[in-house]
Amino acid sequence: MPKTSAIPGFYKLPINERVDKLKAFADLTDQDVALLRTSGALDFSIADHMIENVVGTFPLPLGIATNFRINGQDYLVPMALEEPSVVAAASNAARIAREGGGFTATATDSIMIGQIQVTDLPDLVKAKAAVLGHKRNLIDLANAQDPALVKAGGGAKDLQVRQLKTTMGPMLVLHLLVDCRDAMGANAVNTMCETLTPLVQELTNGRVYLRILSNLAELRRAHAEAVFPKSALGGEDAVDGILKAYAFAQADPFRCATHNKGIMNGVDAVLIATGQDFRAVEAGAHTYAATRKGGYQSLTHYERTPGGDLRGSIELPLAVGLVGGAVRTHPVAQLSVKILGVKTARELAQVAASVGLAQNLAALRALSQEGIQKGHMQLHARNVAIAAGAKGDEVDRIAEQMVAEKRVRFDRAQELLTKLREA
Ligand code: MEV
Repeated sequence: MPKTSAIPGFYKLPINERVDKLKAFADLTDQDVALLRTSGALDFSIADHMIENVVGTFPLPLGIATNFRINGQDYLVPMALEEPSVVAAASNAARIAREGGGFTATATDSIMIGQIQVTDLPDLVKAKAAVLGHKRNLIDLANAQDPALVKAGGGAKDLQVRQLKTTMGPMLVLHLLVDCRDAMGANAVNTMCETLTPLVQELTNGRVYLRILSNLAELRRAHAEAVFPKSALGGEDAVDGILKAYAFAQADPFRCATHNKGIMNGVDAVLIATGQDFRAVEAGAHTYAATRKGGYQSLTHYERTPGGDLRGSIELPLAVGLVGGAVRTHPVAQLSVKILGVKTARELAQVAASVGLAQNLAALRALSQEGIQKGHMQLHARNVAIAAGAKGDEVDRIAEQMVAEKRVRFDRAQELLTKLREA
């Protein structure tokens, strides 16, 4: 039987039973499960080598979003974050997308841009011509730094030259385009750019300063789309509400910042779970949103289909990798990759983009209908009940009562807990 990520009532199961389901879905070993059950699963000896001045670790909850079907394949999606409602919202939107056939996602080749800044140029035109005339030598020199990447089909593929007017005078900026395959590629690209310095200085008679990749990875994009049937969304009115919410974001940067933040709630949570540089993706996503069409725009797009359903899509730069970095050192990141079952960086990017779209759809749907506070209050009430000392099923009983009374407060939770235990 094909594996399904649609697991009704997953959220209602005790953690142990959720883990059992996950174990079966992702073929986890007993050792994997033991790791999931360790709340501080990052060993100090590993943490101490990941960054400097380590004094501890900072665990986050790891949740599993259900219902995702992408390109005809089912995924259970690990998400690491502190914010309530996000995993539930993603799972819910994925369930709706599933009714419309699931997500269709693509990703470009893993092309990163490395920038080399050249200043103090006596003759800009000659310098540019000299660089372009030696393009092949520069690309070959860059590739000599990373034979393994070249062997894998990647490496430097092209070199472009841009001319900038700046407050410190005119500059040339070289863009080295590097196919990083399954690596995020920051180290490979930066090393290549640094290596080119002497030759670039010789060719241009200028002075090279910065050599660093650009996080505006506009050549390394993922795209995902899905049809959300109007019947599953709550009818024509619901579709209308979502389209109006989208129009609001398109017309107003104040709203659009929050709209895109909601998208990144989902994207970042997948990236954190899988050990990615989520700050790089954040920077790229917002700059892409700001530069693609002029003003700051939504990363998603919505329209009504001829049948009245809602078609949603997302496109954003997604520089992620499965080789090198924390994804190789952090045991939980490795486990998240195993749970996802992704085999390439492009596949991971497709999943992250789909989750971003699902997250946005869920937010717009909730905001244009009952608002998000109701759902938030339910989860908040559970946290308050736990803080007041509730255990096991006491948590839900007290939370439900507080929500029904519209009195979600610590003192009320304590009162209810005392009553419950006396009964
Ligand atoms: C909250 O973390 C995210 C939302 O504000 C996103 C949105 O407004 O679209 C709910």
